[in-house]
Amino acid sequence: MRVYVLNGVNLGRLGTRQVDVYGLTSYADLVTMCVETGRELGLDVLVRQTDAEHELVGWLHAAADERAAVVLNPAAWSHYSIALRDACALLRGPLVEVHISNIHAREEFRHHSVVSAVATGVICGLGVDGYRLALHHLARRLSAETAAAGS
Ligand code: DQA
Repeated sequence: MRVYVLNGVNLGRLGTRQVDVYGLTSYADLVTMCVETGRELGLDVLVRQTDAEHELVGWLHAAADERAAVVLNPAAWSHYSIALRDACALLRGPLVEVHISNIHAREEFRHHSVVSAVATGVICGLGVDGYRLALHHLARRLSAETAAAGS
């Protein structure tokens, strides 16, 4: 089962960017953690990051075409990109929105995510562990759906 873990603008700088907010885990470590978690759970996890909004939209279109599950940290785009939200609304598999920080405890402009209303669920404020939790949820959800489809 394929799961895309997609990361938006500036997340490639994890580990050096505002470490008091986002922690010391580097983007490379995050990739390793997601792939290893996927391996333990029997998921084929592909992790990507981009600073170009159109590239993220293209990956979401591909995930929609594949009916794949997605874990998405839309980063700053969460707060204003209607284009990203519309691309998320095309998805046919589950979508878990993840934020490393607790966006509700930060500046007011971060409190609202335009993506959340079209997400299956949202995890925020649990650090990079949020990605691991999202993958655990998707593994359970996808195997329950597969079992239900076979019965
Ligand atoms: C973020 C929160 C956003 O407000 C911010 O712009 C990010 C990261 C998070 O993971 O906590 O880049 O999505």
